[in-house]
Amino acid sequence: MSFDTLAPHYRWMESVLAGPLLQQCRTRYLGHLAAARNVLVLGPGRSRFAAAMLTAAPDARLTLVDSSHEMLEHLGRDLRDGGAAMGRVTLVHADAREWTPSSAPFDTIATHFFLDCFAPVDLAALVARVAQWSIPGTRWLVSDFRMPAAGWRRHRALAIHALMYAFFRATTGIAACAVTPPDAYLARARFRLVQRQLSNLGLLHADLWVRSTTSSAGAGRGIVE
Ligand SMILES: C[S@@+](CC[C@H](N)C(=O)[O-])C[C@H]1O[C@@H](n2cnc3c(N)ncnc32)[C@H](O)[C@@H]1O
Repeated sequence: MSFDTLAPHYRWMESVLAGPLLQQCRTRYLGHLAAARNVLVLGPGRSRFAAAMLTAAPDARLTLVDSSHEMLEHLGRDLRDGGAAMGRVTLVHADAREWTPSSAPFDTIATHFFLDCFAPVDLAALVARVAQWSIPGTRWLVSDFRMPAAGWRRHRALAIHALMYAFFRATTGIAACAVTPPDAYLARARFRLVQRQLSNLGLLHADLWVRSTTSSAGAGRGIVE
């Protein structure tokens, strides 16, 4: 799977198709992260999350792991052009399913519009693997598309998901054909959903998960729309 061909077009496509909606999801919880020190971002693509994170957390070091060389090239250029503190940024060209960090544990993990690239078996393995690099208190930000439970919102989402997956499967070769909610895998890895913000008629969610010390994770969430 490679997002290389999409990299030059990623920003304008997002801006035309989604306006500010995706960036609002990515940055929803930045106010909680001012004290972050060691941040892992998986599949950052060319999103503006890294720049916002560097500003929101002045002592944070960011490790940005992406399997697309082109995405990383553009991201590095975008960050430099925006005056980002590149001394706090490490760009890693690797497949997150196989990569092993040298700087774990992380106090913050971010996966924005990334977990939906994976079919259930890969997603389960990936979440379990990444969770090993966390400690109690680690925050995991998850933004993604979702499927409303019923009604016309679900029909609308079904049409949008069908278009989206057809496009991404054709252009990037992702294995997933539908979005798999990561909730059960995160709960199994002892992360607890602290807050979930739904937006765009239930099509999008922005989650804040926190690694707990006990084995009974997953409960206690507040859902806001
Ligand atoms: C849909 S884009 C999302 C980009 C960005 N996070 C955002 O919020 O827009 C998915 C990104 O994940 C990367 N990616 C997909 N599979 C990957 C993998 N196995 N390991 C690392 N990166 C991967 C792609 O190259 C791409 O940059």
